[in-house]
Order: sequence, then structure tokens, then C-alpha cells
Amino acid sequence: MSMAAGTTLTQRPAWVALQAHHASIGQTHLRELFAADPQRGERFALEAAGLYLDYSKNRIDAQTISLLVALAEDCGLHERIEAMFNGDIINMTEARPALHVALRTAMETRIFVDGVDVVAGVHAVLDHMATFAEQVRSGQWLGHTGKRIRNIVNIGIGGSDLGPVMAYEALRHYSQRDLTCRFVSNIDATDLLEATRDLDATETLFIICSKTFTTLETMTNAHAARAWSIARLGSEAAVARHFVAVSSNAQGVEAFGIAPSNMFGFWDWIGGRYSMDSAIGLSTMIAVGAEHFREMLAGFQVMDTHFRHAPLAENLPALLGLIAIWNNNFLGATTLAVLPYAQYLKRLPAYLQQLMMESNGKHVTESGAHVDYATSPVVWGEPGSNGQHSFYQLIHQGTALVACDFIGFCQSLHPPGDQHDLLMANLFAQTEALAFGKTAAEVSAENLAPVLTPHCVFEGNRPTNTLLAERLTPHTLGAMIAMYEHSVFTQGVIWGIDSFDQWGVQFGKQLAGHTTPELEGTTERPLNHDSSTNALIRRYRRFNRAPS
Ligand code: F6P
Repeated sequence: MSMAAGTTLTQRPAWVALQAHHASIGQTHLRELFAADPQRGERFALEAAGLYLDYSKNRIDAQTISLLVALAEDCGLHERIEAMFNGDIINMTEARPALHVALRTAMETRIFVDGVDVVAGVHAVLDHMATFAEQVRSGQWLGHTGKRIRNIVNIGIGGSDLGPVMAYEALRHYSQRDLTCRFVSNIDATDLLEATRDLDATETLFIICSKTFTTLETMTNAHAARAWSIARLGSEAAVARHFVAVSSNAQGVEAFGIAPSNMFGFWDWIGGRYSMDSAIGLSTMIAVGAEHFREMLAGFQVMDTHFRHAPLAENLPALLGLIAIWNNNFLGATTLAVLPYAQYLKRLPAYLQQLMMESNGKHVTESGAHVDYATSPVVWGEPGSNGQHSFYQLIHQGTALVACDFIGFCQSLHPPGDQHDLLMANLFAQTEALAFGKTAAEVSAENLAPVLTPHCVFEGNRPTNTLLAERLTPHTLGAMIAMYEHSVFTQGVIWGIDSFDQWGVQFGKQLAGHTTPELEGTTERPLNHDSSTNALIRRYRRFNRAPS
């Protein structure tokens, strides 16, 4: 446990010092902070693994950073980082390590879990994936009727979907264009039906991604896909050529009819939301090739090394996490908008929602004590500049303080033209406007009708981070995801919570399990829920069976 028994976070001297500091700096406007320090834009910036983080447009000064670093040290961040990298049990409620860093570590490294070196296993799976991916990409892997595979359908949910789809979209530029990848997650039959309606079964490969191989949504879709394939290919034997699995449940996979040689393994020490760089990324590897996948792993690894060794005040993921604590717990910004100015990153906000909210959306500490401070912010977002024509109004002039992460690239992946400059000009302009706003005097100078002045004033002082990289590459993507993983970890350590369990999700699974048979019941069958749920189920039963 990171927290000394009996000491709550809010009683720690470093926390109390931050509260006092907030009282003195909390209302200082970014205009004043920038005016007081002409070098501020460069001083509050960091570079690691090819990512440049400008955090100067946050309501902080040098003392804020040293107090946050002191808090991190006091909460044992250094020790917890070492514990994670060493494979110690840091997922306390599930009594296991959280070793996603082992997925991208060099072959020579040794990390032991229960006395077994896990790195050799990681590399064996990577080699297995690479061989298979190459067979599919080259057309050597043939379907049941002898045709090459043209379509990949990944079936999974949560971490077994969001990571693969995010990475596929992010790296689409590097993908083999004669292969299409689709992603099916929802138990709503629409998802699978729409994904497969125009596909030729003879050319379609399903990847069933499920760590447990028991998840209701995934197994339901997997069985439906199996039936779809058999109906079109005319034989159960077709399953062997059209289905592979990514799982840690070898028995379940075999029972489904997938041979062990077509199963890509992973381990219980990888959480679903930390698994996009494991075999769960098989669809990514098929799309972009093993070499690009390894480049992505290299990006993860460079950021891992930086996180493990850089001093906290110069540690990009740690600082990102500490600034998030400042914005959330001291300034009251309880939501975080993720705003990538890159269409290829359109699924990044959804991916980060799970990473951040499933990891740190907890109300008790590791030891089970109720927290008296906010934990994970609500995470949301959309690519820029689309969001500017939708919800940015609230970020600029609403009553809620929203912290924002802006993400952009210096180079476009497409031929030179004006569009990239226009895109990035929007990003820079937005962060400037959010920081500095527009005063009543500035509005008056624009000769608007005076009655409009209050509507056109922008208070500014909205906190933003800007993450800038040269170009969206597999390496950059890996570094960025590792950065966010470690920022989430940093926040979890400060809050003293287990960032690697998800008991809240288990509860929902149990509840739906009880309710499903009741929906099938006759209208007379008694119900024992509250009056609202009973009425909803009765109404559902009535209309579900009504002729359409
Ligand atoms: O949503 C809960 C969860 O347990 C996630 O953490 C996980 O990514 C997802 O379900 C899918 O689980 P599995 O890979 O076992 O099907």
C-alpha cells in the first residue's frame, strides 16, 4: 500500500501545502503569469520520446511544480514505479502484478512473475503474431475455399476492442490497403450485421479477442460470426481457417473450435485496457505489418525508460499526471477534454476514456477507505477542428472549468498543401484564446453594439496542455499511449487507489445476468425489482412480443 496507515491524502503536509499555495495562486490569471515571465512558454515545456509537452498554459508556477513533486515523493511514486517495473504485486485487490511494461521490453531483460521470466514468453508470442500476420498479408494464409483473406473482423469489447480500433485508425496511413479491418464490440446484433453485410465469407477472417473468453458480448458475437461463416462456407471445418483467438483461456478457445496453434496468448498480469500492444493488437499487426508494430513497441519502450529514470520534475508522464491532480483536485476541473488535431486519432478519446476512467474511477483507496477527494476526471473529446463547432463554446464561456489536452503534429502524412497549416493554426489559436481570453476593453475596441459586450467577453484562464510531435508514426503513437498509461498510474498512486482492477464493471455483468431470463418470461411472471425496473420490464415484455 502506498499510503501509510492512518494518513489520509488530504492530511499529508504536501497536500496541505498545495491547498495553501492554491489560495495564493489559484486566482492568478494566465495573462499575469505570462507577463511576469517572458520565457514561460519554454520553461514549462518538456520533451521525451519524440513528444513535446507544453504545459505552460496551466495555472501553475515553479512552486506549484515543486509542491506537486514533493507530494509525489511523499506518496512513494518512485517506489511504486520500481515495483511496477519489477513485476511486484501492485494490483492489490486482484493480487497480481500490472506488467504491461513487459510487453515492450528488450529480449535481454529479465522480469520474473512467480519465479518465471515473462519476457521470453512475450517475445515468443510476438514472433507467433509476426509469422501469422505475414501469412495473411502476403496471401499465404488461405480461407476454407482456397481464397486469400481480404477482410479482418476483430470481435472484442472494452480493452479488447478500443485499443485495436484506436491503433488501426491511428496507423491507417501505414496499413496494407487491400485488407480491410472492422471492429465489432456491441452485443446489439446491429454491430455484427452491419460489419459483415457486404463481406464475402470466403475472404473473411475473424479474430476473437477476449482475455477471459467468457465475456458475454464477445462470446455472443463470436458464436453469431461462427454461424454466419458456417452457413456461407458450408462446413464446420471452415472455422479452422476463418477464426483465430487472442486469449489467456486456452481451454475456452479450444472448446470454441480454434486450434491451440491459432491462439495468441497473453497473461493475467496485463489488464484489458493496457493490452493494445499485446497479442490483442493482432489486427493492428496484420494491418500495418510486424515491422511497424515493433516500431510502435519501441516508442512505448522509450517512454517507459524515461518514466522509470527521469527525475520527477522532468518526467513527462509524471508531470502530466501531477498537473491533472492540480487541475482536478485543487482547481476543480472535474472533466478532461482530449482534443487531437488529427483525424487519424479520432478514436483516441474513446480509448482514453477506458484507460483513465476504468483505472481511476474509484471511490475507495487500496485499503478500502472512502476517499475524501475527487478521483478520475470524466474524460471525453473529439478531433479538432470538429469540436470547435460543437462543444468548445462551453469550454470557452461555460460555467464549468474543463482541462484540455490538445494534440497535434508538425507534419502532415499527406502531400503538402494548406490544409495542415489551417488545422494547426486552429489548434494554436484555441489554446491561446483559452489561456488569455478577450477582455471587455478588447471587445469594445471591435465596435460591437455595447449590449453584446458581456456575450463576447472571454474570461480565459482555462488550463490546457499541448502535445506536439513531428509526425504521427507508430513510434509516436506508442510513446503517446505509454505516456498516458503512466500519467494514469501517477494519479492512481497519489490517490492511493488500485488503478488495475474494475469491480464496478463486474457488478453490471451480474445484474444483467439476473435480468436476461426475466425478459424472456411471460407477462404474468412475477418480478421482484423496484417499481421502476418492474414497470420497464413489463412494458418491454409487452411490446417486444407485439407484432411490428
Ligand atoms: O469492461 C470490463 C472488462 O473487464 C475490461 O477491463 C476488459 O477490457 C473487457 O471487459 C473485455 O474483457 P475480455 O478481454 O476478458 O473479454
